[in-house]
Amino acid sequence: MSAGAMRIAPSILSADFARLADEADAVTGEVGVGADWLHVDVMDAHFVPNLTLGLPVVQSLLLATSVPLDCHLMIEDPDRWAPAYAEAGAHNVTVHAEAAADPVALAKNLRAAGAKAGLSIKPGTPLEPWVEVLRHYDTLLVMSVEPGFGGQSFMAEVLDKVRTARRLVDTGHLSLLLEIDGGISTATIEAAAEAGVDCFVAGSAVFGADDPARAVVALRDQVRTASPHRHWTA
Ligand code: DX5
Ligand code: ZN
Repeated sequence: MSAGAMRIAPSILSADFARLADEADAVTGEVGVGADWLHVDVMDAHFVPNLTLGLPVVQSLLLATSVPLDCHLMIEDPDRWAPAYAEAGAHNVTVHAEAAADPVALAKNLRAAGAKAGLSIKPGTPLEPWVEVLRHYDTLLVMSVEPGFGGQSFMAEVLDKVRTARRLVDTGHLSLLLEIDGGISTATIEAAAEAGVDCFVAGSAVFGADDPARAVVALRDQVRTASPHRHWTA
């Protein structure tokens, strides 16, 4: 297996929304120690039964933190709304396969606007129909809970999709970063690392901890220990 960079992406869904800049600061450490990305869950109360934040908050957060933003858009009509997040300066913009009308064109638009393009699949969405589309994407986000809320239990059955995607990447059929989101904690992160995840989103396990910075370090150490054969580069 080739060497790769590990990313820990705390999800601000479990942070204090009135103090987002401070919460971002709390997980900003040295490179390779603190958060690699800050995961921002955009929900529209249509694609998912919850409402969070949108572009104005992302624009403010971009000014308030140096940590790259990983925007996870759980919204309808991402073809229309997602490119603005890329234009605003988000590092990675992830849209849902179930919601995108033309995911290939959308990936091109996101990249043209300067962001990495991410495609997410819900727990019940199979990987196979999306493999060709994923050739146009930089990240694949496998949901390990039903999208909509933090603090849910990890669905280990999605790791089969991660293993399949890992094989496709390792054999050169796909070139993307594998991300997992939902229920990641010290109890579940090792199984995800073993299955081949590169980027670990954790909301309640980080911002629900007494010391969020230490929680990030603990998760990172656990991935390294559980999967030394992955030859993590950073
Ligand atoms: C759920 C969100 C997740 C959420 C994860 O729909 O996409 O990013 O913040 O929260 P935890 O880590 O608590 O499951
Ligand atoms: Zn998310």
